[in-house]
Amino acid sequence: MKIYAHRGCSGTYPENTIAAFQAAAELPITGVEIDVHLTRDGEIVVIHDEKVNRTTNSKGYVKDMTLKELKELDCGSWRSEEWSDEKIPTLDEIFDIFEETNHRLNIELKTDVFPYDGLADKVVDLAAKRGFTDRVLISSFNHEDVQSLVQGKQVESAILTFEVLVDVYDYARVIGTKRIHISLPSAFRRMTTDALRKGAIVYVYTVNDVNYAEELHKIGVHGIFTDHPEKMLAHFELK
Ligand code: G3P
Ligand code: CA
Repeated sequence: MKIYAHRGCSGTYPENTIAAFQAAAELPITGVEIDVHLTRDGEIVVIHDEKVNRTTNSKGYVKDMTLKELKELDCGSWRSEEWSDEKIPTLDEIFDIFEETNHRLNIELKTDVFPYDGLADKVVDLAAKRGFTDRVLISSFNHEDVQSLVQGKQVESAILTFEVLVDVYDYARVIGTKRIHISLPSAFRRMTTDALRKGAIVYVYTVNDVNYAEELHKIGVHGIFTDHPEKMLAHFELK
């Protein structure tokens, strides 16, 4: 089962920071999951929420700020003073970290609230420019974006869902993908086992308990997103 560090090693480091991704780059895991938004001046930045309020020392929407303004914020202290030098990374800076490794990058387009026109194309273009196309998997709760990516056939793409659907596999096929990233509460439902049986590639988020990981492995889930990749590695290596 593939292991992805969710927002980097976010159980130990502040999420979506250089420190969290550098720690993940040291681990023999499949890859990392990265949340991206677009700044007012069209730069791709790595942060989870639409607002900077929860994870920085400021307030406001990412979409209303320039990259220069965002770079002035501290996105580490909310976890611990130890991380007070952390700045919101650009996606380009994350590519730098993984240039010499073979990790895969699951880039989640945070276009479910604000559509950030052009973000998907910018991510695809940057991945190509940096030579990462074959290592990138794009996902989103915005299934219109996933459908456009699938139709463009430039990069592998997955739908993200947290809802329980009667037939998630058929729904994914309408969008044009076999890749389904599903929430843990939906993972043991019949819709997921049916999707697996029909040939879907299923990854589950966010799995921080090794017992759940073990059960997911048993039902044939292909990958998990975890805040604690070290713990998952230790568990599966020791088996
Ligand atoms: O990509 C899986 C997971 O990260 C989706 O939910 O809210 O953690 O971005 P969230
Ligand atoms: Ca995410």
